Amino acid sequence: MRQPLDYIFPDPPEDLDPTQFDQSRVPRHVAVIMDGNGRWAKKRALNRLNGHKAGIEAVRETIRCANDVGVDYLTIYSFSTENWKRPQDEVNGLMNLFAKTMLAEIDGLHEEGVRVKTIGNLSALPEKTAAAFEEAWERTKDNDGMTLVIAVNYGSRDEILDAVQHYAHDLQEGSAPELTEAAFENYLYTADIPDPDLLIRTSGEMRVSNFLLWQIAYTEFYCSEVLWPDFDRYEFLRALLDFQQRERRFGAV
Ligand code: IPE
Ligand code: IPE
Ligand code: MG
Repeated sequence: MRQPLDYIFPDPPEDLDPTQFDQSRVPRHVAVIMDGNGRWAKKRALNRLNGHKAGIEAVRETIRCANDVGVDYLTIYSFSTENWKRPQDEVNGLMNLFAKTMLAEIDGLHEEGVRVKTIGNLSALPEKTAAAFEEAWERTKDNDGMTLVIAVNYGSRDEILDAVQHYAHDLQEGSAPELTEAAFENYLYTADIPDPDLLIRTSGEMRVSNFLLWQIAYTEFYCSEVLWPDFDRYEFLRALLDFQQRERRFGAV
């Protein structure tokens, strides 16, 4: 639910003026590649899992802020299909953290009217992690506030291959529609989610890392130098203000 700017941003840093934010031009869908947890931990001589734990607070704040400014869809990249290559300890730690955090947050999200969805292959997750995401979806699916899309065990190439396989199956069954862009999009995990308007990546990296390749064809990119656990509403505001300065052309003049 939209809130007044001085409520959302009560204590801005000196170089940032929240009144610059144009509430009539809020990006409808913001996607975030939350990166830099490991480096945040390393800087403090902590193990990587402590970085992921610290990142949870930044997720909470980002969800709250996106909801307050009136974003309709917030997609957060939580675990990629490539992240299984990490040490077993880290993978297990992340899976436990997802399960625990998701269960702890459902009530609060539900109260805010948030609808939780996931994209990615849940069936390959440990049972209790998948169950936590399913419960969040089940409990919040009838809400009509912001949609929080959690990309977990998500890979864009897998998503596109899955879509092609389903389409091929439907062709064989004689039930496939004519292959237009709109028809193909219905086979993606993001069917019924609009394309992102803004994609934020933290920690200074400038790569897409197999995220929403089809969907970001005309998305505006914002690269933040901040490591994910240090990301807060003011850093989010910087991205939103930058977005509002862009001229989106979609190939026209
Ligand atoms: C992002 O932080 C979290 C996940 C990918 C799960 P990283 O763990 O990638 O942090 P860095 O990139 O090593 O600093
Ligand atoms: C992208 O971050 C995946 C997530 C944020 C979940 P990575 O840290 O895994 O990406 P690379 O390895 O730097 O490309
Ligand atoms: Mg990383």
